[in-house]
Amino acid sequence: MAASVALVDLGETVDLARVAATDHLDPERRAELGQVLTPHFVAKLMADRLSLHRSSIRLLDPGAGIGSLTAAVVERILQSDQRPTSLHVDAFEIDSTLAVHLDDTLELCARHLAGIGVYFSHVIHRTDFISDASLALRDDLFTGERQRYDAAILNPPYRKIATDSVERRHLEGVGLPVVNLYTAFLGLVVKLLAEDGELVAITPRSFCNGPYHAPFRRFFLDEMAIKSMHVFESRKAAFNEADVLQENVVIHAVKTRIKPQTVTIFTSSGQSEDMVAYHETLYDKIVLPDDAQRFIRIVEDSVDDEIQQQLQALPSRLDHLGLSASTGRVVDFRAADLLQAELNA
Ligand SMILES: C[S@@+](CC[C@H](N)C(=O)[O-])C[C@H]1O[C@@H](n2cnc3c(N)ncnc32)[C@H](O)[C@@H]1O
Repeated sequence: MAASVALVDLGETVDLARVAATDHLDPERRAELGQVLTPHFVAKLMADRLSLHRSSIRLLDPGAGIGSLTAAVVERILQSDQRPTSLHVDAFEIDSTLAVHLDDTLELCARHLAGIGVYFSHVIHRTDFISDASLALRDDLFTGERQRYDAAILNPPYRKIATDSVERRHLEGVGLPVVNLYTAFLGLVVKLLAEDGELVAITPRSFCNGPYHAPFRRFFLDEMAIKSMHVFESRKAAFNEADVLQENVVIHAVKTRIKPQTVTIFTSSGQSEDMVAYHETLYDKIVLPDDAQRFIRIVEDSVDDEIQQQLQALPSRLDHLGLSASTGRVVDFRAADLLQAELNA
């Protein structure tokens, strides 16, 4: 009973701090650093995916904000019957204002875990995760000393990475073929995980298809086995903020070359307390074995399954027929030469 009282306190306290911290964010810096903090119900849904089966867990929280995601993992441990004996967290947060709140959250986590006898330690790295992690990985090539992580939980910032940027140089130095900050964070996390380590991340869905992310997909799918994905029906539902127009996905994956037979696809509207539906589908339907592009197909239900089967049965591809399709928005200025003043029947 005592544990469940503590549980409510931790989740709610951190969520109230998130709302207060968001109100005080500087809009310009917020856009530059992609500061969209995760609401409690999404953080909880993410933490619930992790298996956390080791007795001693090293957890990575890169771009930690005020620590909502780590707090959700701690909540999960407080709730569980099979608790680890120790938890170590490395949290990276570049914004010094948010790092102050992060400190408070991790202290609160320490108190809750002390109450149930789980040994807790943490380090807040007030640094740039991209440069720190890249440099550590490069040193590692020579010393092999860095301890890897058993689990990582992240809601990384989103922004294109300029070709001539320092970030790009760091990432190329560790062989990461990425074009956006969020795939940079994901890629570094993959490299920092131990064998059989797991990650859960909420990111835009854009890495699942399209040519820009193809090199990243090849890297990610070679290293990781997708266990589940969670999609939301509305674009801005998970964050409930007017300026989040990305379609998001929560992905749970394990670092192993052995792929599972099936993947679970969860769907919900993205409102808290909403019903979550799920569909179990074959791994080979999510990532087709002979697909050079390595698209990740999010087969949400049996209707999607059926459509995919029918598409695969078609004898030709569009490019074989000399056709191409644009999936972007139809905007008149791009098709000016096709516009007609009169309807010509
Ligand atoms: C989308 S927010 C998510 C915050 C938190 N993980 C959550 O889920 O509430 C991304 C966070 O990453 C931080 N950030 C952005 N770029 C960073 C970098 N290069 N290194 C470390 N943190 C960074 C931002 O300040 C922000 O707090």
